[in-house]
This record gives sequence, C-alpha cells and structure tokens, in this order.
Amino acid sequence: MAIHQALAPAATTIQQAIASRVSIHAFAPGHALADADIEQLVQQATQAPTAFNFQNWRFVAARSPAAKQRLRAVAYGQQKVEDAAVVFIICGSLQAHRRLAEVLQPSVDDGIIALDVADALVNAAHAVHEGNAAVQRDEAIRSASLAAMTLMLAAQGQGWVSCAMSGFDPQGVSQAFALGAEEVPVVLVAVGHAATADERQKRRRPLADVLELV
Ligand SMILES: Cc1cc2nc3c(=O)[nH]c(=O)nc-3n(C[C@H](O)[C@H](O)[C@H](O)COP(=O)(O)O)c2cc1C
Repeated sequence: MAIHQALAPAATTIQQAIASRVSIHAFAPGHALADADIEQLVQQATQAPTAFNFQNWRFVAARSPAAKQRLRAVAYGQQKVEDAAVVFIICGSLQAHRRLAEVLQPSVDDGIIALDVADALVNAAHAVHEGNAAVQRDEAIRSASLAAMTLMLAAQGQGWVSCAMSGFDPQGVSQAFALGAEEVPVVLVAVGHAATADERQKRRRPLADVLELV
C-alpha cells in the first residue's frame, strides 16, 4: 500500500479550501496517510474552538484494513469507509465540565488566562452542565462538528479529499471501537484520494433563502 506524504499545498488559502472541498463519494483504494500526517490533521482539528475551551473530543483514526472493515460493518456497508486512506471517528465527550480545571491548567501555567478566570469558568460550566444531559450532548455535538469541519478543511489544504458521514450505527461504533460510556460518536470523516476527478460540489440554496440581515 502506498503511503503518501501530503501533496505540496499550492499556497492554498482558506477561501480556496472552502471553495474546492467536495464530499467525495468514491475514494481510490490502496492509499494510506503516514501517521505523522494523521497527527497533523488532528492537531489542526483541535485548533477548533469549544465552549469554555472544553476540548471535549477524541479522534479514533481507523487506518488499518482491519479497523476500516470493522468500521464499515457498522456504517451501513459504505464502501468509502474501506477505500479511504483513513476514517476518523470524531467523538464528543459528555461530562466535559468535570475535566475542565485540568484542561484549562496549561493556559493558566502559560499565563494566557488568570487562575481566578479559570476558576470562574469551571464554576460556570458546572452550573450549566451538571445534571443537564441535553446541554452536555448539545455541546459534545457542537465541539465534534467544529473539529470535523476544521479537519476537512485542513485535509483539503494538504491536497487530500474528504467526506463527512453520519450514516453509521452509533451503538455499533461505540461497541466496535470500545468508546467510553461518556463518548458520543458524532460524525465520521473519511480522508484520502478521490477515485475520479469529476466530483463536483453540489449546488447550495440561494443566499436570500438562508441569510437574514437584521
Ligand atoms: C453530517 C453529514 C453527514 C453525511 N453523511 C453522509 C453519509 O453517511 N454518506 C455519504 O455518502 N455522504 C454523507 N454526507 C455528505 C453529504 O451528502 C454532502 O456533504 C452534501 O450532499 C453536499 O455535498 P458537497 O459537500 O459535495 O457539496 C454527509 C455530510 C454531512 C455534513
């Protein structure tokens, strides 16, 4: 199996990455990403913002044939899961407030936020999240979704292509990959090489339908 370094991005601007990203339906099989490139994609994905800087996410990178087969079995048999170089299971974490003090500590240590500010954030997060399953789930889904979009744009900028997928059985994914009880598999993101060069971004609804200027 060929392991590809990131294609030299031709000075891709964020606007070019947004404009050129397409949901790829057929990936060319037989490609792999180096683990260092997978790490770089996730590093960039984790630069997405989260409420309170919760960083309530985890990324499972299915990149071995066995892992991709296991994932395909719980993703309605979608062929792209096996053909993509790597498929990220992007998980959002519930109970994020309980880890917040620990997660904020490096920013306190580096003088980015003051200790009393961190304490206030932890208190506010506890007040809103403790015992509130709906808020916890909403925030898990928001965080993982922002990470997923960031990861797709990072991949696009590196010369790879991607497809987000919600076509999977969440319980099946949780079991097959031994996710924690507090982890929600929010979205899969397949990354690799396209089988054909002719996939085009679908048309979007007119701006007038979706934008309200107030
Ligand atoms: C949350 C989400 C779930 C999706 N699930 C699937 C999926 O399970 N299988 C699939 O082939 N495409 C899936 N897609 C891709 C969409 O069909 C695609 O993004 C949409 O049609 C727009 O296509 P475009 O991005 O190429 O313009 C999903 C996209 C998103 C954002």
